Amino acid sequence: VSAAELFAARYGATNAPTATIELPEAVELILRHRTVRQFTDQPVSDDHLTALIAAAQSAPSSSNQQAYSIIEVRDELRKERLRDVGRGSAFLTEAPVILLFVADWARHSQIAMWAGEPSVTQGYLESTLVGAIDAALAAQNLVTAASALGMGTCYLGSLRNEPDFMAEEFGLPDGAVILFGLALGWPDPTEPAGIKPRLPQKAVWHAERYRATELEDIEAYSRALADYYAPQIRPHTWVEFAISRMKDLTGLKGRERMREAFARRGLPSN
Ligand SMILES: Cc1cc2nc3c(=O)[nH]c(=O)nc-3n(C[C@H](O)[C@H](O)[C@H](O)COP(=O)(O)O)c2cc1C
Repeated sequence: VSAAELFAARYGATNAPTATIELPEAVELILRHRTVRQFTDQPVSDDHLTALIAAAQSAPSSSNQQAYSIIEVRDELRKERLRDVGRGSAFLTEAPVILLFVADWARHSQIAMWAGEPSVTQGYLESTLVGAIDAALAAQNLVTAASALGMGTCYLGSLRNEPDFMAEEFGLPDGAVILFGLALGWPDPTEPAGIKPRLPQKAVWHAERYRATELEDIEAYSRALADYYAPQIRPHTWVEFAISRMKDLTGLKGRERMREAFARRGLPSN
């Protein structure tokens, strides 16, 4: 497959960049990413999960601290409760597995406790960031490996809607907080979803120093995304969507008290 064809799908024909190099399969797989929200009822084997967790753990990790955990959820009733936290998204119960990615300093604190040492740094923003970055890198490695195995995934930020409920449901110790979930399963081939265009490269790729956003790039993107969504009839453009996420607290969908919730989990992020 030519880079041109893949770039056209990723950016929309008019915004696509050019590059006259051959793209290896691994890069093609990444460029073809799409979120999957419809799953068949085929189960996910333990061997598949073993391979996927190994892929996740192969991600780089800040100072090799590996400050994250992954909770596998298969229980039907528990998935129904997760669907409620996710405000009813049906695919949360259709997916055979939900993985929860946890920023986890509880393990380090346990190690410090065994040694009779304090765990002072757990409370600082830097530690929260390290846990969140490590977890996100592991998750994305897993997503790419899953797609190479023919599986599909959907990240679930919606599982941050009820952090206290989640901590209770999953027995989280002090120092551990659920950052996001990932629905995992075998994609239903009838799902009407494709490769979703991204912002033009010019809008995100800065040379040497930051360059302010240009209206024409944003408008070009809004048009590309509108073309992508044309068969699905969307009530808003990307610009309107971006504004609605920023203009008032409703854009945070009830997650405006995340700092306090993290503090209750022992990650005050000072
Ligand atoms: C951290 C994160 C959280 C997300 N949370 C949700 C979610 O709660 N529900 C959902 O349907 N999609 C969720 N998504 C998927 C995004 O909507 C999706 O990645 C985006 O629209 C781009 O589409 P694509 O992945 O198909 O290219 C999330 C993605 C990320 C990276």
